[in-house]
Amino acid sequence: MAGRPTFYITTPIYYVNDVPHIGHAYTTLACDVLARFKRLDGYDVMFLTGTDEHGQKVAKSAATAGKTPIEFCDMVSQNFRDLLPKMNFSNNDFIRTTESRHHTACQDIWNKLEEAGFIYLDGYSGWYSVRDEAFYGEDELIDGEEGERLAPTRAPVEWVEEPSYFFRLSAMEDKLLAHYEKYPDAILPESRRNEVLSFVRSGLRDLSISRTSFDWGVPVPRNSDHIMYVWLDALTNYLTAIGYPDTECDSFRKYWPADIHVVGKDILRFHAVYWPAFLMAAGLEPPKRVFAHGWWTNEGEKISKSLGNIIDPLELIKSYGLDQVRYFLMREVPFGRDGDFSRQAFVHRINGDLANDLGNLAQRSLSMIAKNCGATMPQPGIFTDDDIRILEAAGDILETLRGHFDRQTIHRGLAKIWRVVRDANAYFAFQEPWALKKTDPDRMNTVLYVTAEVIRQLVILTQPVMPDSCTILLNQLGVGADARDFASLGQNGRVLPGTPLPKPQGVFPRLVEEEDA
Ligand code: MSP
Repeated sequence: MAGRPTFYITTPIYYVNDVPHIGHAYTTLACDVLARFKRLDGYDVMFLTGTDEHGQKVAKSAATAGKTPIEFCDMVSQNFRDLLPKMNFSNNDFIRTTESRHHTACQDIWNKLEEAGFIYLDGYSGWYSVRDEAFYGEDELIDGEEGERLAPTRAPVEWVEEPSYFFRLSAMEDKLLAHYEKYPDAILPESRRNEVLSFVRSGLRDLSISRTSFDWGVPVPRNSDHIMYVWLDALTNYLTAIGYPDTECDSFRKYWPADIHVVGKDILRFHAVYWPAFLMAAGLEPPKRVFAHGWWTNEGEKISKSLGNIIDPLELIKSYGLDQVRYFLMREVPFGRDGDFSRQAFVHRINGDLANDLGNLAQRSLSMIAKNCGATMPQPGIFTDDDIRILEAAGDILETLRGHFDRQTIHRGLAKIWRVVRDANAYFAFQEPWALKKTDPDRMNTVLYVTAEVIRQLVILTQPVMPDSCTILLNQLGVGADARDFASLGQNGRVLPGTPLPKPQGVFPRLVEEEDA
């Protein structure tokens, strides 16, 4: 019998020079939502995140903190791990590049590249940005306000001259272009794909892949004066976690090539150009997709430590609730575009979509069932056209949602669910079950049953984004724990007349607007 289909999804591994902020939480959240969706849809999912602990940037931060690099990494990496349960992230593994399994994988990939003739020793003299951990050509630099040279990201650069191994990136140009041509969805959104194509078409220079002026990294095999360039080291984490260099092991065979690497737009080039080039040169398949999302600003301003406007996800959760934060981040901004975080937009979105739309629908119908149907799921009569229409609208969502989630347009998937939430509210208001109570109690039962069944479907589909709130709602609907995946959406999973229901409780309280507070 064929096994379940597999799905391997990764976040970037985060530099341990920083405390986790909303930007990091955002990427991992999007991956969590996609991973949960696939699990509910029957996939065997591997969802990986972790920390990027080598390189000059981390070494410098450790020195500034008066700690050894590893002491510093242990401490900061822990902050990232602490965030996982607090955000309800469902990752299957957490990788640290300082682990020995990763050391082995890095050295192996180096050997493969060398054996294939893609590495040569030379010297690097040029610009380097420690903040970006990236080499820049003279032609890429821009002038800062004081005439200083800056990376295109506005990060400071320094002049570096040292012996270095190089990777023959220039030899991979045609192969990369053929790959993008063959797999038009390998880089999404499309605007990002175009950016990558024009970068590659403009010609690729060989890439420096070792450093000698510091030693916080994985030593180059057979020449430990050099450590591996932190990006070659870091990218390899995606292989390490599934058992590389053992390419015959179960997990590697199951999960490679990765289905998707989700990254911020800032690190697209590393993932969509260097990474597939390394892999193809080493005789491995490139990932099926790299999706680059946009950046969040805070009330219109770039988020940065120096501006002191970092948004702490834990603070947000404390003020607004976890699922509210998860929903807002996934719904407010089209996934792939830049977005601005504002308290006003937050309160508006949560009160509109959650408190008014979904929350109200559930609260009103479940309270009526509790009061008028002996706190058990009512027995419906014959369905009218209106009943059938709303049941079918709910039943049709999954197919559309799959399409959106397969292209990572998560916001559009949610918009689709919420159109039916609103239709269900309109149905409920139009049917006036409260008025039917006296005139036609059987019809009231039918309307309440249909509404409960529609809510069941909506909530099952919303679980990837708001797992805790959906669990509470499904408990209130009397849905068994084994009947909450997408396979249960159909007729067989329908809410069962006669099921005793617990006392309903509100799940999405209204948030107070700041000016009213
Ligand atoms: N260590 C590298 C990645 C190596 S992956 C093999 C790195 N780390 S990072 O800590 O700087 O994290 C970068 C990622 O954090 C970005 O790509 C993005 O996913 C996320 N974000 C950081 N700030 C962000 C915003 N302000 N907005 C949205 N996401 C941002 O780069």
